Amino acid sequence: MSKQILFRSATLVSSQGEQKGDLWVKEGKIFAIGEDLLSAFQASAPEGQVLEAEGLLLVPAAVDVHTHMDLDVGIARAVDDFESGSRAALFGGTATLVDHMGFGPTGCSLAHQFEVYHALADGKTYCDYAFHGVLQDICEERVAELAPELDKGCPSFKLYMTYDKRLNDADVLKVLRMTQKLGILVCVHAENHDLVTHNKADFVKQGCLSPHYHPLSRPDFVEEEAVERILRLAHIANDAPIYIVHLSTQKGLEVALQARARGQKHIYLETCPQYLLLSDEVYDLPEPEALKYIMSPPLRKVEDQEALWAALGRGDIDVVATDHCPFRIGKEKLQGLGNFTKVPNGAPGVEERFLLMYSEGVVKGRLRPEQWISLCCSRPAELFGLGGRKGDLQIGYDADLVLLDPRQQTLISQSNRHSACDYTTYEGFLLQGQIQKVFLRGDLVVDGQRFLAKKGEGIFLKRQPCPELNA
Ligand code: URP
Ligand code: ZN
Repeated sequence: MSKQILFRSATLVSSQGEQKGDLWVKEGKIFAIGEDLLSAFQASAPEGQVLEAEGLLLVPAAVDVHTHMDLDVGIARAVDDFESGSRAALFGGTATLVDHMGFGPTGCSLAHQFEVYHALADGKTYCDYAFHGVLQDICEERVAELAPELDKGCPSFKLYMTYDKRLNDADVLKVLRMTQKLGILVCVHAENHDLVTHNKADFVKQGCLSPHYHPLSRPDFVEEEAVERILRLAHIANDAPIYIVHLSTQKGLEVALQARARGQKHIYLETCPQYLLLSDEVYDLPEPEALKYIMSPPLRKVEDQEALWAALGRGDIDVVATDHCPFRIGKEKLQGLGNFTKVPNGAPGVEERFLLMYSEGVVKGRLRPEQWISLCCSRPAELFGLGGRKGDLQIGYDADLVLLDPRQQTLISQSNRHSACDYTTYEGFLLQGQIQKVFLRGDLVVDGQRFLAKKGEGIFLKRQPCPELNA
């Protein structure tokens, strides 16, 4: 049982805004929040710990609903497993992961990958975790398996419009008709596969193999077309809930906003820090440096970044997640030296997101503090069935907490990262703010540079469908 803690005189930042006050942790949960709880705390818990937090921000630990720990992409395996990835997450102030599982063997049941992923994560993960299911090889039997998986605690599945196991439009409709009835949230990787395949083949034929051609093979309308199509299909399926992952373009954003403006319900949007803070000129860096940034979708133009920031500010984007999927520049990425089509796609980010969004978002005036918490903590928790438990400062919530010093700075460098990857795409970013302590269900797990979590301390989270998806 974790000990009782009173955080004194902190600046408490929740999805509802900022207030100065005390926060009392008891039995791993937030027990009370108030202006002055000291005498009540001392009377009730004389053995408890009082932590003076004057001048510090006390915020909910973040929730990352888009990671790929230990992902097998055929030509390589993501180098963070659930152990190293969850350690990096905690150092970055993220205490809950909802991981996107990889594809299983052709024709496997929906349950198959849950078993595989429990074997990868259980007993290894330092923070709390869950998995989104994955949709592939659709047939009546697979569709019929959705309800039992939901009952087991999985209210979100992902489908891909690209890659080998992508779904065609007819299969998408079969799935969405069922997920709409059940209140399951379907996450969608929206890229037009045929266009990407055609473009890549053309570039290969012409000998255009440098990283410069990676974004050109996946231009913005590849995303725009796929977002438009999936949302039209969702509308046919009675406004089935759709969550677009890693939205990267102004064009993709616009078609999603148009669908909302037409009155379509249950459209949810996610972007990632890389699409807000990095842009496509990095693909002209010399190899292998440029390979660090090969990911799908690719980094975009400054105008796309600006459109995404503006959408965040207006509240049009629901979640900022990471798509953490690291491959080493000294190893796995080198397979694609001289041929961008052979580079395993993906980059790290689980450790960087929360502080990046504070410094680049709140400190630079692009986001209000409560928007930062909503995007990184409370809204992802709510949408993915962890509302009432994770991602906010409210009585009864898990005491997953971060103490952040807004007066200190953090210089991001590979030398101070905790992922198993050998680079960070944010090398040299000087951020305002420093994460000082991280708590998981009331236990101190990160204290400055000290890591105190126990391997396997993270618990698997059974989730409920988000109530608003049925409205
Ligand atoms: O490049 C990326 N994003 N790799 C991870 C797998 C995926 O497509 O999300
Ligand atoms: Zn992803």
